[in-house]
Amino acid sequence: MGCSFSGLNAFYDAVGAGGDVWINENRFRVLRQLGEGGLSYVYLVKEVVSDGAGLARKKSIDPSHISDDGTYVMKKVPIQSEEQLKLVREEIRVSSLFNHPNLLPLLDHAIIAVKGAQQGSQNREAYLLFPVHLDGTLLDVTKVMQAKMDFFPTITVLQIFRQLCAGLKHMHSFDPSYAHNDVKPGNIMITHRKGQPPLAILMDFGSTCPARKEIRSPAEALQVQEWAAEHCSAPFRAPELWDCPSHANIDERTDIWSLGCTLYAIMYGSSPFEYVLGESGGNLQLAGMNAQIEWPSGPDPPYPEPLHQFVVWMLQPQPAIRPNIDDIIFHVDKLISKYSS
Ligand SMILES: Nc1ncnc2c1ncn2[C@@H]1O[C@H](COP(=O)(O)OP(=O)(O)O)[C@@H](O)[C@H]1O
Ligand SMILES: [Mg+2]
Repeated sequence: MGCSFSGLNAFYDAVGAGGDVWINENRFRVLRQLGEGGLSYVYLVKEVVSDGAGLARKKSIDPSHISDDGTYVMKKVPIQSEEQLKLVREEIRVSSLFNHPNLLPLLDHAIIAVKGAQQGSQNREAYLLFPVHLDGTLLDVTKVMQAKMDFFPTITVLQIFRQLCAGLKHMHSFDPSYAHNDVKPGNIMITHRKGQPPLAILMDFGSTCPARKEIRSPAEALQVQEWAAEHCSAPFRAPELWDCPSHANIDERTDIWSLGCTLYAIMYGSSPFEYVLGESGGNLQLAGMNAQIEWPSGPDPPYPEPLHQFVVWMLQPQPAIRPNIDDIIFHVDKLISKYSS
């Protein structure tokens, strides 16, 4: 980036609550840590506005994304290698492509030098700025509900799911089409709204890449598997990413598998295959490849059978006959009309 303001971070100690961070010409106070991903730290920050400047003046930011109270979320990604730099640059590039109400927008970013652990040394860090969603992820929300034996009503399950489909359709319809590659409850923000279904926003484009891959050799197949092992969460990972054939056409339907697992998780709080982790010798890959789904006891009365059939339809181990996002949207809209009275 080479921006002089963000460069001021080099004079500060490592980011922590109470400290300040510059992202380009805007300054933010770190209020508290919100979460920690595999390779990142997520903080709640508040803009420190001086002399009428500030994020609201930035032309590239949609005014509807400017927060009323100046709070935002900042994701800090430490960079220790050229490979990590490439990955975070790709996350920034991809996040900036999309513009959809059900996809988390990237408001601003900076890649800057910071003080290293050893005296006089310097490291790099990427700072990504997002709107804040404080009601938690779908994973947080369903965990709390499970503890209280509480379940979303059928129509709410479908309305949350429908929004995820809308966000994914935006990505799958790009030219070239993009696969999110890590659709799961921990990457979905939920915001409760009065008199409306909860807002669902898909985030974390750290694994997102062009969806279509032509695999033509055992070496290419192995490369896909190794990439997936690092980037696609195991309980939500499509069978073709676990065991990739040496001649295969991978496409957006890897996301449809994860979406099927996520619909199950909106109902029951976990991936349909996570139960095997509690069994001795349980194997996520095998359970997925054989589509061994268990249906736990849910609400009383239970979720209607068509919702279970919908999950099974998405969890088709053979990608060639798995539905695409348009098929899914057509079907979920029919279910919404059926259960919305
Ligand atoms: N916009 C946001 N509002 C509130 N919390 C967030 C937001 N973005 C991320 N988080 C929190 O930080 C965690 C990690 O963020 P994520 O982008 O998924 O990082 P990673 O790539 O490391 O998984 C999330 O699971 C969530 O708890
Ligand atoms: Mg994540």
